[in-house]
Amino acid sequence: MRSCVSRFSRRSQPTTNAWSRTPFCGSIREWRQKQFVADTLTLEQIRAYWTEQARVHGESPAASWSDASAIDLEIREIANRLHDGDRVLDIGCGNGYSTVQFAARKRISIRGIDYVPVMVHHARARAAALSDRLATKPEFDVGDVTALKEPANAYDKVVCVRVIINLRDWPTQRAALLAAGRVVKPGGLLLLSEATLQGWNKLNAFRAEWGLPQIPMPPFNAYLDEDDVTRALSTGFDLVEVANFASTYFVGTRVLKPLLAQALNASVNVADPAMHWNQWWAQLPPFGDYGTQKLFVFRKQ
Ligand SMILES: C[S@@+](CC[C@H](N)C(=O)[O-])C[C@H]1O[C@@H](n2cnc3c(N)ncnc32)[C@H](O)[C@@H]1O
Repeated sequence: MRSCVSRFSRRSQPTTNAWSRTPFCGSIREWRQKQFVADTLTLEQIRAYWTEQARVHGESPAASWSDASAIDLEIREIANRLHDGDRVLDIGCGNGYSTVQFAARKRISIRGIDYVPVMVHHARARAAALSDRLATKPEFDVGDVTALKEPANAYDKVVCVRVIINLRDWPTQRAALLAAGRVVKPGGLLLLSEATLQGWNKLNAFRAEWGLPQIPMPPFNAYLDEDDVTRALSTGFDLVEVANFASTYFVGTRVLKPLLAQALNASVNVADPAMHWNQWWAQLPPFGDYGTQKLFVFRKQ
């Protein structure tokens, strides 16, 4: 997919990213590589960011994302694809908020790993506190997807939620995807819920029609090119489905909500999970292709 970033630059917010202000009509990959030079964090800074998130937010879902309604959507979507008896690996599990919910919804054996020890500490505390309410207790360990030590072909389902986008560049992301795929059993599923460049661009194009500025990509993220992802896993995996589960929710909260707020001169947080607005939009069926976040379901051959 080719994209012309200059479409969004007219109304973009002040940013340190020189590339978002410069008309650029190359491929997504060329643009992304140039953008990295300008304003992304180093891998050490990204790890420090997640460590700080764990320290500040403890066991709250906010350690992973401020948008708890979107996280709930994600959990529902993934849990629907887990089955009783599955052996599941949750890579980049954060403080275990979602991992434990998977375990609460299905009788699965689930193991979460994260490269931030403080995240793992909170995940273990959460699992311990809920152990009498869970059929099987989730286990958590420190582990890095870029040096994955799990055995090959071991899991029925491998889950990766907003993790690969933290890996800064495509070669590292690609290697991580292949490593995650290596530990899936033949016939098992790799469930990737990640932000994509295509979803982000479409949402921003929708916003631009109404004069809303581009939502910037966080400096600790490098959103994935959907074509790169499917190509990387084309040997050994079948792409079963791409679920745009957050499309309706993103239109409601990232387009309509800011427009209403603007019209009423009200100050709102688009991600506020306490607002009925967000809760209501999260109940609606997904429609269209406007979610930054998508679920890729790959089956291992
Ligand atoms: C956006 S949070 C998502 C957490 C969790 N998957 C969820 O759904 O709430 C990203 C997580 O990925 C972890 N992470 C980032 N890079 C990683 C890596 N190379 N290996 C393992 N975990 C990583 C971070 O520490 C953080 O906890």
